[in-house]
Amino acid sequence: MKIAVVGTGYVGLVTGTCFAETGNKVTCIDIDVSKVKRLSEGQITIYEPGLEKIFLRNLKEGRLKFTIDLATGISEAEIVFLALPTPPGADGAADLKYVLGVAEDLGKIMTAYKVIVDKSTVPVGTADKVKEAIALNYKGEFDVVSNPEFLREGVAVDDFMKPDRVVVGTDSERARKIMGDLFAPFVRQGNPIIYMDERSAELTKYAANSFLATKISFMNEIAQLCERMGADVDMVRRGIGSDDRIGKRFLFPGIGYGGSCFPKDVQALIRSAEEISYDFKILKAVEQVNAHQKLHMVEKIEQYFDHQLKGKKLACWGLAFKPNTDDIREAPALEMIRVLLEKGASVTAFDPEAMSNVKQLLGDQIQYANSQYDALNEADALIIATEWSEFRTPDFEMMEARLKSKAIFDGRNLFDVKQMKNMGYYYESIGRK
Ligand code: UDX
Repeated sequence: MKIAVVGTGYVGLVTGTCFAETGNKVTCIDIDVSKVKRLSEGQITIYEPGLEKIFLRNLKEGRLKFTIDLATGISEAEIVFLALPTPPGADGAADLKYVLGVAEDLGKIMTAYKVIVDKSTVPVGTADKVKEAIALNYKGEFDVVSNPEFLREGVAVDDFMKPDRVVVGTDSERARKIMGDLFAPFVRQGNPIIYMDERSAELTKYAANSFLATKISFMNEIAQLCERMGADVDMVRRGIGSDDRIGKRFLFPGIGYGGSCFPKDVQALIRSAEEISYDFKILKAVEQVNAHQKLHMVEKIEQYFDHQLKGKKLACWGLAFKPNTDDIREAPALEMIRVLLEKGASVTAFDPEAMSNVKQLLGDQIQYANSQYDALNEADALIIATEWSEFRTPDFEMMEARLKSKAIFDGRNLFDVKQMKNMGYYYESIGRK
């Protein structure tokens, strides 16, 4: 099939590359001239494990192309994916200016039937607005489909190639058939394509992310109780997770959720509800709990240092909002660092992938180490903010040799509490005795 993808951000690039990988001819369109040039020359613009290899292969074999010209890019395409940013506006609601702007442009240049697919996370009712925007200038036949993505950064290629489900929102038989054919290779293992109306599909995306964020905030509150009641959140997590109705995944307490999706989507759903005068009470609490959880470790650090952080040298392992990504959007580590700096501490950080992004944001407000161990030199304590695999079984002797004091504040529960005690560490984690 011939496909166009408008927007070569994270979702657009993964979507375009993975569709090319299954034999489709894909043209990706972006207004960023230098990005399109780099991509056309084989320079991948995002860090995502496994993506570069298939990106290069499909580029070489001519199934994947990049252009800045919307008209050329969509001219042959039967399906046009919109993978455009929907940043939160001043009031927290998703801003649709990019999506609707492109929809209007499409209306001006379309000459034949196409399926226009909303891949961006957009509020309920957007498909109707996209239809209207196209119809302003194009009077022929077309369909608009809502097809939200559920990709997790770090495993996005796998998530795309073997999705748990594909959600296709459309009331058109013709579009339904086209989308079914397109996604058939991805659901061979038997996972479903779930067809529904556009509005339900749009809400499904927000409901999925908000539910997962709720699960995390709930466990973060249980962890707070554990700390006060002398219980162990790891045990409680296992105890409840083995009930199928609850499920084992996404029950890990920590320093709060971050990333480009959960914070934005939770906020947007609260705002959407407000617009129809519905007070989404649970989600408001989820946000509050998360904001507090991001600073929970800072409270513990302050207590340890008797509220005297001035002049303290802290090491921080991990900056990315989660492992296997260089993404620092809404990363809890950065919020912690901001407050620690405010209170007079200095921070030396190490992250395997995210340091150059942080350098752009924070410059010399913090120091950057060449290795996880270098970060520890002369440090008064270590903070663990991201659960990169290489932090899980470190060389404790080497750590001891470098740290000025053997104190670890582990926001990701990487180590065994007893073992740390036996090794003589002052060890604080989340929700454990
Ligand atoms: C998420 C959704 O999972 C994906 O389906 C959606 O389409 C985009 O948003 P992503 O943001 O890449 O994906 O990260 P995810 O792996 O879901 O983690 C989100 C945040 O939750 C991270 O900050 C992570 O540390 C935190 N988290 C996750 C926890 O604190 N505890 C958990 O048990 C799981």
